[in-house]
Amino acid sequence: MVLFDMQISDNWPGYSLDLFTYPQHYYGDLEYVLIPHGIIVDRTERLAKDIMQDIGDNDIVVLCVLKGGYKFCADLVEHIKNLSRNSERFISMKVDFVRLKSYHNDQSMQDMQIMGGDDLSKLTGKNVLIVEDIVGTGRTMKVLLNNIEKYKPKMIKVASLLVKRTSRPDGYRPDYYGFEIPDLFVVGYALDYNEHFRDLNHICVINDHGKAKYRV
Ligand code: HPA
Ligand code: MG
Repeated sequence: MVLFDMQISDNWPGYSLDLFTYPQHYYGDLEYVLIPHGIIVDRTERLAKDIMQDIGDNDIVVLCVLKGGYKFCADLVEHIKNLSRNSERFISMKVDFVRLKSYHNDQSMQDMQIMGGDDLSKLTGKNVLIVEDIVGTGRTMKVLLNNIEKYKPKMIKVASLLVKRTSRPDGYRPDYYGFEIPDLFVVGYALDYNEHFRDLNHICVINDHGKAKYRV
């Protein structure tokens, strides 16, 4: 395994599914485990520490991007809370939600919908931490950032569990991220394929059978 700066390399073969447990209803639908659940949680704890170090002693609004961000957001907030309790620094957190949708099957769509974002005005003057599951082209995040910036928050930081190495890197990098992954379609830990696989703990690569089975 080659892991520099939490980069998972293109030739990383992953872990055999036989080494772990996963829901029976996904047997035959997955290729391999890219990131086991335990490593996700451990890495998230470190991101929480980094965030505390940078923006501790502040009130922040955690803006969870649904639906894919809910697991990462829940674990990140939990780690920040624990670190906060056990240290001199504190973060007072409010958690809010915004919903975006830009994927159909495994394809990114041109138009992106922002839902539940109609009262973004309460972000004015606040320290905002956007929590996302994955940044692919960066286009989704740019649209969201443009929308939020209109409401003049005091600060905006972005934490994404995953960053995808795409062939069209448009320069966008989140302030915090867990892992840089190859340009693969991944599922699990709340990341979905047409709403399936959110109940899978590990981040996995879906196979052709899985894609066909859940295509809409
Ligand atoms: N999986 C699930 N959702 C996504 C992905 C992915 O690889 N990329 C962007 N949204
Ligand atoms: Mg997402």
